[in-house]
Amino acid sequence: MKIAVAKEQDPAEPRVAATPDTVKKLKALGAEVAVEPGAGLKSGLPDADFTAAGATVSADALKDADVVFKVKRPEASELASYKRGALVLAIMDPYGHEAALKSMADAGIAAFAMELMPRITRAQVMDVLSSQANLAGYRAVIDGAETFGRAMPMMMTAAGTVPAAKVFIMGVGVAGLQAIATARRLGAIVTATDVRPATKEQVESLGAKFLAVEDEEFKNAQTAGGYAKEMSKEYQAKQAALTAEHIKKQDIVITTALIPGRPAPRLVTAEMVKSMKPGSVLVDLAVERGGNVEGAQPGQIVEIDGVKIVGYTNVAGRVAASASALYARNLLSFFETMVNKEKALAVNWDDELVKATALTRDGAVVHPNFQPKSA
Ligand code: NAI
Repeated sequence: MKIAVAKEQDPAEPRVAATPDTVKKLKALGAEVAVEPGAGLKSGLPDADFTAAGATVSADALKDADVVFKVKRPEASELASYKRGALVLAIMDPYGHEAALKSMADAGIAAFAMELMPRITRAQVMDVLSSQANLAGYRAVIDGAETFGRAMPMMMTAAGTVPAAKVFIMGVGVAGLQAIATARRLGAIVTATDVRPATKEQVESLGAKFLAVEDEEFKNAQTAGGYAKEMSKEYQAKQAALTAEHIKKQDIVITTALIPGRPAPRLVTAEMVKSMKPGSVLVDLAVERGGNVEGAQPGQIVEIDGVKIVGYTNVAGRVAASASALYARNLLSFFETMVNKEKALAVNWDDELVKATALTRDGAVVHPNFQPKSA
């Protein structure tokens, strides 16, 4: 059982799919582990650390690997170096990328999309969306604080008092909750909003104030799966009115709102941005999904009348060492379910975790969500 840890080809991807700690555990499962040279460098993990953990470091790591651990989906150009039949575990970003799925099917690999892992108790330890969103929420506050020209906590000094910053978090899923906690730790006055009623108590338990239009629609806004629904035009208008008044008085706004399978909801209009004081900052964590803030640009800090809109992409990657450590544990935990007592690879294709994540197998796209339209 040979496992390869790939070096990410995307220069904007600093994470790595294994750490010396997970390499040791993979070896204990009976695997030989080969790491591509420099794979961990941007996460602060030099080749020597992998070697010390029992891996080999080799430019040919992928060639005869039975399993490949990766962060991002392998591009068509990379697939030539993969063995047919290899299992590939990565964040596959499959929606809207049917051609890429076909390339993986054609290359004969079995591709598993870690982000499609069901959110059930057994799979919590494999939940890459949570592990990465948590760090992104943390980092969004740090990025906001860095861009903000004032201090976050109240400071009473001989030279005068610095007021505490007012931070507003929009969207209180995994990222938003961590953003609240981080902003509170930095001493900010924190308010937060979401359309799911369950979030009210969570916000308050973190010492922040909850703000939302709490009408009948709000009471039913959570799907059975725990996600938000797309809200009606009427609700959105009421939400916008409430938000508009509140935003004017905020120093930092962090938006994290997402709806599965839909573009991110537009929560902050250009007009609301203009209503903010110069020096205020917005951080849009949804920028890669279309953005919650009008005017946000992926990978850029846009300045409008002295208000900055931060649109960093791959925000978890901005805390690369921590993100890699958690991601590597997620992968290891999933992989452990694919190894039998005899320390051999034994994928149970009927396991619900496998069925939910397997995109391609034996030359075909097998996932029900990605079948050709006519089928
Ligand atoms: P997400 O990333 O899909 O969305 C982020 C937040 O945006 C959500 O809280 C959503 O309600 C909110 N949102 C959507 N539209 C909005 C609007 N118009 N205005 C304001 N907010 C809006 O959510 P995430 O972080 O993936 O969490 C979704 C749910 O999954 C939560 O209930 C979370 O607790 C649950 N969860 C369960 C896990 C498990 O059981 N293993 C693990 C992780 C999360």
